[in-house]
Order: sequence, then structure tokens, then C-alpha cells
Amino acid sequence: MTAPSSTERPSGVALEEVRSDAAEVLQPGASMGLRPPSDAGVLAEERRSRSRPTVPGRTEEILRAFHEESAIGKAYDARLMAEIWKFVWPYRKLLWVALAGIVITAAGGLTRPLVMREAIDDGAMAGNAAVLTRGGLLLVAIILVEQLLTFAQMYTVQIVGARAMADLRRHVFGFLHRLPVSFFDRQPVGRLVTRVTNDVDAILEMFAQGVLMMFGDYIKLLGIIILMLVLDWKLALIGFATAPPVAVLVTIVRRRSRAAFREIRAKTARMNATMNEQVSGMTVVQAFGKQEAAAADFDHINVAYREANISAITYEAMQDAAIEMVSAVCLASIIVALGVHPVSFGTVVAFTAYINQFFEPIAMLAQRYTLLQSAMAGAERVFGLLETLERDAPAQRKVAEPSTGGAAVGFERVSFAYKPGVSVLEDVSFEARPGEKIALVGPTGSGKTTITSLLLRLYEQQIGVVRVDGKDVRGLERHDLRGRFAVVPQDVFLFPGTVATNIAAGEEPDGERVAEALRRIGAYDLFMRRAGGLDAKVDEHGGNFSAGERQLIAFARALYRDAPILILDEATASVDSDTEARLQRALDELLRGRTAIVIAHRLSTIRRADRILVLHKGRIVEQGKHEELLALGGLYAKLHELQFRKSAPAPERANGRLRQTSA
Ligand SMILES: Nc1ncnc2c1ncn2[C@@H]1O[C@H](COP(=O)(O)OP(=O)(O)OP(=O)(O)O)[C@@H](O)[C@H]1O
Ligand SMILES: [Mg+2]
Repeated sequence: MTAPSSTERPSGVALEEVRSDAAEVLQPGASMGLRPPSDAGVLAEERRSRSRPTVPGRTEEILRAFHEESAIGKAYDARLMAEIWKFVWPYRKLLWVALAGIVITAAGGLTRPLVMREAIDDGAMAGNAAVLTRGGLLLVAIILVEQLLTFAQMYTVQIVGARAMADLRRHVFGFLHRLPVSFFDRQPVGRLVTRVTNDVDAILEMFAQGVLMMFGDYIKLLGIIILMLVLDWKLALIGFATAPPVAVLVTIVRRRSRAAFREIRAKTARMNATMNEQVSGMTVVQAFGKQEAAAADFDHINVAYREANISAITYEAMQDAAIEMVSAVCLASIIVALGVHPVSFGTVVAFTAYINQFFEPIAMLAQRYTLLQSAMAGAERVFGLLETLERDAPAQRKVAEPSTGGAAVGFERVSFAYKPGVSVLEDVSFEARPGEKIALVGPTGSGKTTITSLLLRLYEQQIGVVRVDGKDVRGLERHDLRGRFAVVPQDVFLFPGTVATNIAAGEEPDGERVAEALRRIGAYDLFMRRAGGLDAKVDEHGGNFSAGERQLIAFARALYRDAPILILDEATASVDSDTEARLQRALDELLRGRTAIVIAHRLSTIRRADRILVLHKGRIVEQGKHEELLALGGLYAKLHELQFRKSAPAPERANGRLRQTSA
């Protein structure tokens, strides 16, 4: 009995991949000391949690969303297929080649038993060596052609799948860049990552494991039925009698194993998300001694994952065994039938071969069906994302207006809320003429950063008009709009790369200009002192640079960009006096000749501003120059009192300490 060979078992391969994914996920955790093996307490905890029934843990709650979205839907969805087909279309010629290969291979498989029958009956039985030789050669030729075509067809289909899915991935990635920032406020990062990786891979699997071969399976099945009937219809009918039980068995087992696969996928997503969460929060986990809780959390998922895997393997094995069994019963009943209904020896051999071949496509079809289902689920999620209609800052023609001239930046009675009902800005109006420096001050959460987000149109005001260079921002193309700004954000974000690539912010860095930008802010020597200089590696999130250095890079980035309007969200983090001096100088350079909106925390920056806007709970409550506002004795005076009077004598205190220690 030839069961489907292991190389042809799609879901087996899928299972293997899921497992190796998990191994990858698990590996880093082990090496990162999530659970130190020497810790007896932790080990005890491990044993306890293993025997513990799976009570939904905290992570279970958090990740419920992942669980829900992992449900598997229909096996075939014409609309989704059409979407996938759009990406396959450029490579369709290769697909036709593959399809031709599949059809010919199936035909080859069907003719082999016939050749054998003739060789046995007319050659071996009749003692005709010539017929035997011819039969043998013919068989070899058929098998050779079959194998060659199988290779060609598998190769071309996979090439098509890999190319089409690379295109799809590129498309999804590009699409994400066209979505507004508010979209990302609502989407967990893990989910978007899953879209571009796992979900696209689910579709790819469909190509890799031969959905196209389903055609071959159907052709084979149909061919075998016809040929068996033609060879001997009575024996054929006896054989077919076993088909219904097989169908029932396969359906039952498949349904169960599908549930198990769904579970595996859900648990993989959870495990990924948990690992992500734990590794990103490693500092907190370790500093707060949360390793045990983290390990317990992880263990819940790990155990559930293991159980899901075991049941999938069980069903997989059950199905193979069941098909083997039925096919044995089928053969046995035919052998019994031969007693009352004798046929030629060749026919018996051909029949046996056909029966073996008969159960193979049935098993394969069942497996490929599951695959198709998971591909459709992946496609549904990927194309569902692509259906998001929101767009990042689309230019609206109806508000496009000729420049009103004058102000470089203007807010006109602007109100805004991130979430309906929770007003963040209320009736904000102000203007900055070209070259003017405006400082925004106010308590934390008063809406300072929000004002800059509206200027860049990262979010859109609900009421009022925001103008840049006299034009309503809603009428500007996002490139035109954002091209006018150089931004130093509150939380400096550095991309993995080098100092130079970060200063060039995604452009191909021009070494000379990068150096010039750094020189102008007086930080060139600081960065050249580091190993690697401007090509020094920047780790993820710039973790290998200090807060002050990151700010300097951000300043250099703004200078490199050389845009007419500067937005500076001064970081509150205090830096050493040397870096402070550099930052001061950098700021002078940045402000020179530019219109600037500066969210200022340093007194020196605020003093330099042409005008200070004081924000309180989303409203501008005071505005004027430093001295005027102090004289007013309002919120600004109070903030100033709190922030600077108290800290003013600090250097003296520090000096005093220094003197003491040196004495
Ligand atoms: N993406 C967001 N989604 C929902 N609410 C937000 C979002 N960003 C900010 N908020 C809320 O809007 C309000 C104003 O935030 P904003 O960042 O503008 O404050 P800020 O004045 O810059 O404060 P800080 O000085 O601490 O930087 C806060 O109450 C904040 O919780
Ligand atoms: Mg802020």
C-alpha cells in the first residue's frame, strides 16, 4: 500500500513550519533569561503551572483579539481568489506551463498500470520477451517524463507564488504608509506584522503545496474511475463500494484536525505577541522582578500550544491510518471477489495499482482543502486591511485656495479631539509670520504636541482652519505640506542604520552635508570620537546612544533637511551641561532664518521666542513676551515660578557639593 509520500503531505509540512516557528520564538526567550534554570523557585513554579489547569491568564485576556481573528472561514471565496489573482496575473504564463505539466503527469500515472497489464498478460504470461522489453522501456520513459514534469511544475508554481507574494507584501507595506497616523493608534503592531508575514505566508503555502495540483488530483480520480470501469466494471463497483466510508472518515477527521490547526495558528500568534511584549519590556520585567509572572504567563500559552500540536498530530496520523485501512479492506474484498469472478493476472495487477492510486488523490484533496481554507483566511485578513479607506492627508480640492499670504503658520479657531467627546484643543487661534519664533508652553497634556500634529496634518482638526504658508493644509498634497517642515519630535526616533543615514532621514546620505550639519550644531567632534564616526551603527530605537546624543542627531536631521519651518518639541529629559551647551548652539543654528514653533521647556529657549503662547487644557490662555507674561502674574508666571525659580540656584548647590568633595 502506498500512502501519500511524506514529501507530498501539505498539512504535514505546514505543521512542521508552525513548529519550527515556535522553536524560533522560544529560543530567544530561553537565552534571554526569561526563566533562569538555576532558580529553584522558578522551576517549582514551572512544575506547578504545568499541572495547573489552563485558567485564562492576563495575556489570554489581552490577546483575545488575536484569537478571534484567527478563525478559519470558507475554503473558497471567489472574491478573494480574484484579489489574489491580480498579483498572480503578471506571472500567468508560468502557471499555464505548470498546469500543462500537471495534466501530463496525471495522464502518465494513469497509463502506467495499463502498460504493466499488457506486459504481464501479453509478455510474461505469453512468454513474449519482446513485449516485456517494450513494456519495461515504456514504463521507464513514462516515469522519467513524469518526474521531470513534476519537478518543472513544482518549481514554476513556487516561483509564481514567491514572486506574487513578494509583490503583495510590497503592496501591503506601501499601503501602510498611506494610512493616517490615527489608524496606527488603534492597531496593535503585532497584528500588522502578522498581516505582512504570517498571513501572506498562508497564501504562499497554497502555491507551495500545490493548490494547482488539485486539478491533477481531480483528473486522476476521474481517470481511475473510468479506467477501472472499462477494465472490469464488476470489480470496479466492488472497489468503489469502499469509497463512501473513506469519504465519511476523512471528513470527520479533517474537520477535527482543522480545528486543531486553527488552534495552533491562534496559539502561535499569542506566543509571538507574548514574546514581543516580554522582550520589548525586558527592562521593566527584570527591574521589577517580574520574571516569574512572565514565565507563568508564557507557560499557559506554551502548554496550550503543545496540546494543540499534539491533537493535530493525532488526527493527522489517524487519517493516514484510516485511509490505509480502508484501502486494505478494498483490496481484500477484490481478492475475495476474484474467486467467483476470475480475470487475467495483468488485470489484477493493474487493478491493485489503480486502487492504490485511487486513495491517494482522495487524501491529497482533503489536505489541500485545509490548505486552501487557511490561505483564504490569510487572504481575507490581508485584503481586509487593504480595504481600509482612510488615507493619510488626502488633498481636498474643495478647500484648495490661493494663498492668503502673510502668515507662515496660522490656526483659526481650531478645535480637536482624538476621541469624540474628549476635547484636546478648544478654539485655538494664533499666527506666526515668516521668520517668527513662537514658543508653546503649558502643563503636561495641555495639547502642545497636538498643535504640531495638526500642522503636519498627522491628525485633522474637526473645527476651524489650519494654514501653512497661507494655505489650508487640507488643500495641500502631503508631500508639499510636510516638505515645508523640519521636525524635531519630543521622542526622538532613530532607525537602525548609521548616524549618517539617520541624519539624512531615509535619503541616501550625502557625507559632506551630514558632516556640515553636525559641524553647524557643534557636535561633529562628539560623533567623530565614537568608533565608526558617522558610519557608527545605530541599534534598534537608537538604544546605543544617550538621550542627549539622540537629540543632537535629531537636530542635525532637521538642519540637513533645511526646510523653512521648524517644529521643535523640546525633550524634557535633562542632559549634562556639555550636551546642554551643544544643544543650545544647535538650537541657535536651527532657528536662524526659519519660522519656528518651539515647544519649550528651557528658559533660554522661551526667552528667545518672539512670542509665547501659554496653553492650558487645550486653550490659549495667555500670550506675549517673557517679561510681559511675568508681569501679568498669571499661569505663565506660576509655571515659571515652579519650573525655574526652584531650579535656578541648582548650579550653585552643585558647585558647593563639588567643592566639598574636592576638599
Ligand atoms: N494619539 C492620541 N490618542 C488619544 N489621545 C491622545 C493622543 N495623543 C495625545 N492624546 C491626549 O491629548 C492630550 C494632549 O496631549 P499632547 O501630547 O498634545 O500634550 P502635551 O501638551 O504635548 O504634553 P507634554 O508636555 O507632556 O508633552 C493629552 O490628554 C493626551 O492624553
Ligand atoms: Mg508633548
